[in-house]
Amino acid sequence: MTESHTHRVIPLQDLRPASFALPQAVQLPGKRVTAIGLLQDTRGRALHDLRISVTDRCNFRCNYCMPKEIFNADYPYLKHADLLSFEEITRLARQFIAHGVQKIRLTGGEPLLRKNLEQLIEQLAVLRTLDDKPLDITLTTNGSLLARKATALKAAGLQRVTVSLDGLDDAVFRAMNDVDFPVTDVIDGIEAAQAAGLGPIKINMVVKRGTNEQEILPMARRFRGTGMVLRYIEYMDVGATNGWRMNEVMPSAEVIRLLQTELPLVPLLASQPGETAQRWGYADANGHYDPQLGEVGVISSVTQAFCHSCNRARLSTEGQLYLCLFAEKGYDLRQLLRRGASDADLANAIGHIWQGRDDHYSELRSVLAPDTGAPVKRVEMSYIGG
Ligand code: GTP
Ligand code: 5AD
Ligand code: SF4
Ligand code: SF4
Repeated sequence: MTESHTHRVIPLQDLRPASFALPQAVQLPGKRVTAIGLLQDTRGRALHDLRISVTDRCNFRCNYCMPKEIFNADYPYLKHADLLSFEEITRLARQFIAHGVQKIRLTGGEPLLRKNLEQLIEQLAVLRTLDDKPLDITLTTNGSLLARKATALKAAGLQRVTVSLDGLDDAVFRAMNDVDFPVTDVIDGIEAAQAAGLGPIKINMVVKRGTNEQEILPMARRFRGTGMVLRYIEYMDVGATNGWRMNEVMPSAEVIRLLQTELPLVPLLASQPGETAQRWGYADANGHYDPQLGEVGVISSVTQAFCHSCNRARLSTEGQLYLCLFAEKGYDLRQLLRRGASDADLANAIGHIWQGRDDHYSELRSVLAPDTGAPVKRVEMSYIGG
């Protein structure tokens, strides 16, 4: 076999989400894990966020997430019968809430591609946290369908949205989404979301060195003083198909330095435990934080891992529970559900799985063996949710 042939074969091994390759049946533990919101994993981390992926499909092909060559017509997307129904999702969500979950994020793929998503939001919006408060229900979207759907999403009970936007320059944006989607349509979507009251809106920009770093300052100028929070995300080695290289990562410290050349910033304290972003406030002429100008954030998963406080569980579209964005295996909650497990059984299984959690991939990344080009088996972000 020639070397070039080997290289063509390797990505095919990575096509399927790892849960297909490594299904993990969940054994019901004998001992009950009491669901009173005090769950901790092996590193003392609580369970706070549940990120629910509602589709593994997307209408964009961002190169860092769903490269076109791999995510083509032959890609084995999930079949309809494999997806959790809205009732199944809500039933599972209830058990996570019993263990202390306070925030639910709907993700994908592109979650607005899931038919009748508003119905799921309605079902989730009536749930209450352990201390009888409404959940924080939010959604991450590429914004392409937001102009059409913002009002209905708000009416269904969605509280806020996070929109991915990697630049304002139309040519840069079209190249990054790789389906020639115009930036003005996403901006219209963001404005519709703001008008519908889906705020505070967050804007996520993945920064890829050599691709969109020239958009860093224009994006800051555009969103400063709008009440929207722009966050710059370090390009991550998530999944197995994006051909990640460290030299394409622009460290957040560099982003902050660049912003400071024009827009003075002061560090802000975290607003929530386990927050992904480090917050920086725009300063006034006296060097003090000016709330009118607002804030920006940096998400530095590569250069400053935040695993020590990671309180996020992830539920895949087909009902696999993942404990880390970089996990190689999920826990098959759908099988439990469809084999007639009671609510108490489900809560017990979730509690047991979380208590055994040790994941901290981003902290390990720097001490792992250097990238050898060998195939990896991690789940794709489009499958597990951004
Ligand atoms: P907010 O409550 O709105 O602040 O949400 P969030 O920051 O938890 O969620 P969001 O989906 O906006 O996260 C932003 C980006 O951070 C994601 O798209 C990922 O790139 C990255 N990210 C989120 N969670 C994790 C995580 O647990 N680990 C790592 N390594 N990256 C994460
Ligand atoms: N690195 C960092 N963030 C990523 N996302 C997807 N792929 C990557 C990656 N390789 C995130 C982006 C996007 C969300 C849906 O997923 O933040 O906004
Ligand atoms: Fe789609 Fe978001 Fe992935 Fe881009 S980053 S391909 S918009 S899921
Ligand atoms: Fe959490 Fe895993 Fe991300 Fe670390 S790498 S913050 S454990 S999801």
